[in-house]
Amino acid sequence: MSSEKNNYINPHLRFKDQVPEGTTGWQSPSNIALIKYWGKRAVQLPMNPSVSFTLSKSATRTTVHYKPAAKKESTIAFYFEGERNLTFEQKTIAFFKNLHSVFPFLSQMDFEIRSENSFPHSAGIASSASGMSALAMALCDLERTFFGTLDTDEAFLQKASYIARLGSGSACRSVYGGVALWGKTDRLQDSSDEFAVPVPKIHPLFRHYRDYILIVDPHKKKVSSRAGHELMKTNPFAPARFKQANQNLAILLKALETGDTDTFTDITELEALTLHAMMMTSQPSYMLMKPATVSIIEKIRDFRNRTGIPVAFTLDAGPNIHMLFPEENEESIKEFIRTELSAYVTPDSVIADRVGNGPQKTE
Ligand code: DP6
Repeated sequence: MSSEKNNYINPHLRFKDQVPEGTTGWQSPSNIALIKYWGKRAVQLPMNPSVSFTLSKSATRTTVHYKPAAKKESTIAFYFEGERNLTFEQKTIAFFKNLHSVFPFLSQMDFEIRSENSFPHSAGIASSASGMSALAMALCDLERTFFGTLDTDEAFLQKASYIARLGSGSACRSVYGGVALWGKTDRLQDSSDEFAVPVPKIHPLFRHYRDYILIVDPHKKKVSSRAGHELMKTNPFAPARFKQANQNLAILLKALETGDTDTFTDITELEALTLHAMMMTSQPSYMLMKPATVSIIEKIRDFRNRTGIPVAFTLDAGPNIHMLFPEENEESIKEFIRTELSAYVTPDSVIADRVGNGPQKTE
């Protein structure tokens, strides 16, 4: 049973007269979690609060063309990178159906949705966060345009975050630039399990942080996020993990505020390895790292100890490595990748990203 308040049900958001035709477009970035969301309950509510950097380059661009529904039942055609994609189409149809009480106007329109990612197909990067947040921004834009609601940035982004969360949990953090937090915590006022909020007190060093994504293995993930979250329901270590996430969050927020890169590194790496430890200790168990992942982690730690450059790694639920470091160390890190990681990655398999400013309207 859902424990949500759901403030967003609004039967008035329906066209009384003519249904308009037009297009809206949004670009929205992916994000990389520092404190990981892993384990959920009810309708996509997190078991612990999470924190992420919103990225810049790794993004999805989505245009939504709408017109009056031709038949009683509204329709959606979904094109991904120029081709009709029936998997995404079915997912979007189900997603829109779930939103009919929040956006009643959806049932009055036919949609053609076109979506593309800025990162290569084969990057193995999760695109649900960027994809779902771009779509959520577009839907809130339609509401604002036609009904004059959501007229402050705060109201607009909060609802977009709520909608994005229903599509994919981590997507709710992508609607804000910089650092976003999702999940109720006494460390940040107005935080909520239902939507993300921006983290206001961030040291300038972290606002300009770099995230170099090393694509160790471009194949599709072994296990879906949904299945991974599910495994936390029976993992014997899960209660301790949820408690630890809250403690790590408190320490990380302080480090982000004060510019403490050493503590940032400790906590970020601990979170990444704990996520993987949870997968290794679930039943069935999963090993999501590749041998190259482990080798690169060892090289990063060795490089950090040798040079004093505060480069940290983190991981998603897969083998690829995110290297997080200050802007001023960019040249040294490029050199490190070229000289010491060439056995594992080519220049083509590195995405040089950075902390970004959040979604943008494109049409
Ligand atoms: C490891 O947001 O992809 O990236 O809510 O089922 O769509 P769903 O899961 P998803 O899970 C993300 C997990 C993670 C950690 C994180 O981003 O916090």
